[in-house]
Amino acid sequence: MNILFLGDVVARSGRDAVISYLPQIKKQYSADFTIINGENSAHGKGITSKIYRQLKEAGADVITLGNHTFSKSEIIGNFSQCPDMIRPANLEPADIGKPYIIRECRGRRIAVVNLLGTVFMDIAAGDPVTAMNSLLQEIDADIIIVDLHAEATSEKQVFYHIFRSRVTAVIGTHTHVQTADEQVTDGCAYITDAGMCGPFDSILGRDTDEVIRRMVYREQTRFTPSDKPAVICGILIRTDDATNRCISAERIQIRPEMRV
Ligand code: FE2
Repeated sequence: MNILFLGDVVARSGRDAVISYLPQIKKQYSADFTIINGENSAHGKGITSKIYRQLKEAGADVITLGNHTFSKSEIIGNFSQCPDMIRPANLEPADIGKPYIIRECRGRRIAVVNLLGTVFMDIAAGDPVTAMNSLLQEIDADIIIVDLHAEATSEKQVFYHIFRSRVTAVIGTHTHVQTADEQVTDGCAYITDAGMCGPFDSILGRDTDEVIRRMVYREQTRFTPSDKPAVICGILIRTDDATNRCISAERIQIRPEMRV
């Protein structure tokens, strides 16, 4: 089984790149199942039901979120129209959206879990380890993929070491910078951050000039998303059809100039 995961889609630049290029990536990597983190897809913060539909039509099977899950008010009342989207399991309010999802693919049950980290995050969330232990009591699946949306590398590594014998992949998101530490140990894949699908010549997807003015000169800028061409970042997880355990993890990074 080939499972494609694309990191945080950032604003129009990232959306346009993913929507136009995803079919080609899926074909190139023979992806059976595709997960996309869409938490920055609506102008850099949150998602809307329209963007959800666009990502689904482009080929996403499941869409995960993060600390900006509820940033767009439109989505709060429309989660029921987005059946393949999940929100962090340890984020309040717990009664909006699903904390995990199970979908069937090639005769296997794939569970996708979304969790928030708690270290250096700008939003209060419950302990992800406690939440994952609780979810594992009820999840009945052959393959379990976790999108751990968190800032601190240490928190993501701690989580991986605790759960790697019980899940298939722990994929970090949120920092927007892809890390080169992908590994497969005990049949479980890990990467600290899958990276973003968003403006490459930018500061984490934001307009470079605005971020510099804020950080250096303390101006109250808006952190508008950059409109520069997007890099597409993610990871391909391959599982053994006999054991359902992970056998390889391959980083994907397609810079604007590499797209045809
Ligand atoms: Fe985030």
